[in-house]
Amino acid sequence: MVKGMRLGKYELGRILGEGNFGKVKYASNVETGQGFAVKILDKQRILELKISEQIKREIGTLKLLKHPNIVRLYEVLASKTKIYMVLEYVTGGELFDRIALKGKLSEESGRKLFQQLIDAVSYCHNKGVYHRDLKPENVLVDANGNIKISDFGLSALPQHFKDDGLLHTTCGSPHYVAPEVLANKGYDGATSDLWSCGVILYVVLAGFLPFDDRNLAVLYQKIFRGNPSIPKWVSPGAQNLIRRMLDPNPNTRITIAEIKENEWFKQNYTPAGPVDEDEDIYIDAQAFSIQDLKPIDLEKQQSGSHALINAFELIRMSSSLDLSGFFEKEDVSERKIRFTSNYSPSDLLDKIESVVKDMGFRVLQKRNGKLRAVQENKGHKCQNNLSIAAEVFVINPSLYVVELSKSYGDSSLYRKLCTKLSNDLGVSQNQQLLALQV
Ligand code: ADE
Repeated sequence: MVKGMRLGKYELGRILGEGNFGKVKYASNVETGQGFAVKILDKQRILELKISEQIKREIGTLKLLKHPNIVRLYEVLASKTKIYMVLEYVTGGELFDRIALKGKLSEESGRKLFQQLIDAVSYCHNKGVYHRDLKPENVLVDANGNIKISDFGLSALPQHFKDDGLLHTTCGSPHYVAPEVLANKGYDGATSDLWSCGVILYVVLAGFLPFDDRNLAVLYQKIFRGNPSIPKWVSPGAQNLIRRMLDPNPNTRITIAEIKENEWFKQNYTPAGPVDEDEDIYIDAQAFSIQDLKPIDLEKQQSGSHALINAFELIRMSSSLDLSGFFEKEDVSERKIRFTSNYSPSDLLDKIESVVKDMGFRVLQKRNGKLRAVQENKGHKCQNNLSIAAEVFVINPSLYVVELSKSYGDSSLYRKLCTKLSNDLGVSQNQQLLALQV
């Protein structure tokens, strides 16, 4: 067998999954043979998005989360270009692959998983940590059929460029996202996580999504309206709980305390016990502390292909690092962004046209709520040309969603364009609130 890349005491193996910021790979500890999952983050992407401080804080928080239904973070390492998060390895795959393969769960099994989900979410909320991106890929199943939530507290990592308050919802699947998050109303992490848990409970018991449509605008409308029809085979108790969780008004939506008092929820409920701290025995105590991580002696690392140094040391140093290559392995999720606007579709297209023309684009098409444009690189015709498309969706008579996407070309220029357009045309939270009340 071909030996995988060495990362300190770990040997990296096959790819387990692909996230917004990079891959998750299997890794084994060469001394103990123990399996881990290593999430590999592209450091320069973090730098580019100016979220290193946020990542640092959030990884610090994640390290404190110890719950049987939450994927544990054991240590954080870094090479010149990457950050490696060494995580608990979960063997059973994603919950929703199971549902896709075997169909819905029995009410008994669904309730057990839902109780574990609420336990984990409640534990994190009590520590002031919100997921904000609870979705099928983040719900894994272990060898005993118990769920493990991944990426808790990593809300800086997914698709939000939140600092500037502009590029709000990029194109992850909106199916699990609470209406107030989609509408960018300024939301409470706790209540919007519960909406996502409601969608997960629905999918587990029904076997399909509560809100779905191929047309994005229709999908948004369905989510804003809430009140999905629930199949008859779901018991009245579960139906009632789902309805209370999928309440589009976050102020009247059920709370965790109320869920824990719910009769359907309480059946056969045993809250999770504390994590066995013995699990930590094999973790290098020094390496475990992010803040205190000392640069590892580079001489000792020569057997590995990457010299390891403190991840955050590296982020601090890295303003001087070479940024070339950053855009080469870009993530598909970064190619599309959406923002909401109050301008009418024709105004939006006119304004987008004028902005892209100012930036030297040539407009190829502008009709039926769509615009396509290309910016040709002088002297390099057809090479590295940035080609973009904009599409406007009607949410209601005074609220629209603009979706920008890039077919190919320079990502940094594309990001500038996204920022400019959402700056100029995006709706403020107050305007949006008014629009949604129309
Ligand atoms: N895919 C993503 N995270 C994982 C984990 N912790 N274990 C197994 N597969 C994964």
